[in-house]
Amino acid sequence: MSITTHSYGTTKHGEKVDLFRLENKRGTLVEIINYGATITSILTHDREGTLSDIVLGFDDIAGYESADNPYFGATCGRFANRLKKGSFTLNGTSYQLAKNDGENALHGGLRGFDKQIWEAQVNADTLILKRVSPDGEEGYPGNLLVEVTFQLTEENDLRIDYQAETDQPTFINLTNHSYFNLAGGGTIRDHHIQIHADHYTLVDETAIPTGELRAVEGTEMDLRCSLAIGTHIDQVQGLGYDHNYCLNQTDGSLTIAAQVIDPSSGRTLTCLTTEPGVQFYSGNFLNSFIGKAGNIYAKQNGFCLETQHFPDSPNQPSFPSTQLNPSDRYTQTCVYRFGIEK
Ligand code: GLA
Repeated sequence: MSITTHSYGTTKHGEKVDLFRLENKRGTLVEIINYGATITSILTHDREGTLSDIVLGFDDIAGYESADNPYFGATCGRFANRLKKGSFTLNGTSYQLAKNDGENALHGGLRGFDKQIWEAQVNADTLILKRVSPDGEEGYPGNLLVEVTFQLTEENDLRIDYQAETDQPTFINLTNHSYFNLAGGGTIRDHHIQIHADHYTLVDETAIPTGELRAVEGTEMDLRCSLAIGTHIDQVQGLGYDHNYCLNQTDGSLTIAAQVIDPSSGRTLTCLTTEPGVQFYSGNFLNSFIGKAGNIYAKQNGFCLETQHFPDSPNQPSFPSTQLNPSDRYTQTCVYRFGIEK
């Protein structure tokens, strides 16, 4: 495994951005920039041995900084996913955040972790991206020291380890927002998916959980047996899958959450997590805009498996807690495992 560092230009604020290229002996290649701790490329082989880029993104930093970037490959925080009306109460104090998704807050606010420059350190075969999110940033309490470690193994696992510490009680929910397309382009409706979840968090029309964990059994949300994504997608509430699945395994061990297979290329993706939930998003809001190498990304041309705690947890006392106290340490791991089905 090797990591090389390359210049990736400067942001509109004049900050220097670097790209880190991780490559293993199989020839799998992962590129990550320290703007937004963003995965910009993942190149894997198909069953014929052809290498293709299986994540959506842009060609340059200006693309990632553009207003329509839908969090391609980014690290989302301080609180990934939605917070109802952009507010929460912590130890009797109410906090109001920016409402950047209609009436709600989404993915950490106007300038979340996805739009920040992270300090980078290459340590043997790992890339460590760190930053301090200062007290009050985007309205959240507490200075939060966050570290995200990326590692590409010889077994073809892209492992992402998250750690954080705070000096005041706060809420935290981090995730990676890569959009995958295992065929390297086109629709993802033909990909097959399996998610190990008997329940999902039922949501209102603004995608905020009602508090009910609804059984998937007998509904279009049931993905417990591998199924083409397109099978029931048009019956799903809203424009397609954009829901948090409550994983069956909740003991915090690194466990398979989901498996995706693209029958045409043979590429497979297995997603493992220590988190209780995974937001399965079928790229419903992709609106034919231009990405890498002039590729046009249309609706359902990419999917995300955002491993995380449940949306709006700070306002839902029955959900697993997302509160981080100064005496605690936040840790979680996500693995994207790449394979080939013959
Ligand atoms: C998340 C949300 C989606 C959408 C995308 C970004 O995955 O759940 O509703 O907002 O981010 O476009």
